[in-house]
Amino acid sequence: MNETAITVHDVTAHYGSKKALDQVNLTVPTGAHFALLGPNGAGKTTLVNILCTLRRPDGGTAVVAGADVIARPTQARRSIGVVFQDSSLDDRLTAWENLEFHGLVYGMAAKPRRAMISTVLELVELGDWTHEIVRTFSGGMRRRLEIARALLHRPKILFLDEPTVGLDAQTRQRIWQYLDRLRRESGLTVLTTTHYIEEVENADIVCIIDHGRIIAEAPPEQLKKDHGIRWLHVVPQDATAAEAIVQRFPQAQRLSGTGLALPAGDDDRTDAFLAEFRDRLSEIRFHPPTLESVFLSLTGRELRDRADGQRDADRAAGRRGGRR
Ligand SMILES: Nc1ncnc2c1ncn2[C@@H]1O[C@H](COP(=O)(O)OP(=O)(O)OP(=O)(O)O)[C@@H](O)[C@H]1O
Ligand SMILES: [Mg+2]
Repeated sequence: MNETAITVHDVTAHYGSKKALDQVNLTVPTGAHFALLGPNGAGKTTLVNILCTLRRPDGGTAVVAGADVIARPTQARRSIGVVFQDSSLDDRLTAWENLEFHGLVYGMAAKPRRAMISTVLELVELGDWTHEIVRTFSGGMRRRLEIARALLHRPKILFLDEPTVGLDAQTRQRIWQYLDRLRRESGLTVLTTTHYIEEVENADIVCIIDHGRIIAEAPPEQLKKDHGIRWLHVVPQDATAAEAIVQRFPQAQRLSGTGLALPAGDDDRTDAFLAEFRDRLSEIRFHPPTLESVFLSLTGRELRDRADGQRDADRAAGRRGGRR
């Protein structure tokens, strides 16, 4: 078996004069959950579109499941399943009809096609909804149906571009459970993009992308070790103490309630802070590095911005785009 599911070498992509991907290199081992994490406009969708042969790179090469995406796009396409960022179901059709159409496009014979449609609908717990019109489905049900559709032709690699945006926490967790089970049971390789940092904690490899460049690629624990910083959370005894701390240590951030958080990467500064204020604190707690702090220290800013929040709200409200 090929040990490498995806290889990307020096891939570059432009939209007009704008560079969306800048010499991207990455390797995804077979059977891994590889998470591409980055803010809006980082280039995640552009990269996924290149890997699923919808867009040609302007430079570099990419190989998926042993097939070069430029030289052998049809072979590459047969090995992959895709869940696009924006919904691409036909909501006038039933769940079954959406899958049936996909199976026909992939040239699946009637018997295995029908058997697989039932299997994948059961997998995503939509068996009872098989013959219902998709228009009546919730956002989470639609997303699950899209995952079922992507799995129908038994791909070796599954691409999911922001599969859980706008879904409630319980549905998001269930979607990750299906994908984990599939990876364990069938050796499926999964590449996801997301900006929910908590969702990549369990990925085998997290790849951080920003402004079209890969800025880090490693297992989550390794990223935290290499780039994360600890935070010191304290509760000052009174407002005067809090004010004094903020004056002396401007890097302190106010938490909800009366707490303050200080970056605790530099031991000398942390020691100096504690020596000066220990007696005026009612609580002191160190927090280990998180992936959020990794992102912050690599890019100098937080991952989520207001535009993201608005977009999530739009998705949750069902205002999806129609891009295919
Ligand atoms: N069709 C297009 N025409 C022009 N520019 C585009 C087009 N699609 C993407 N871009 C630009 O290319 C860059 C990368 O976009 P891309 O959609 O790949 O980012 P992304 O990481 O998927 O973002 P998001 O998290 O918002 O989905 C952005 O600056 C974007 O504005
Ligand atoms: Mg995108």
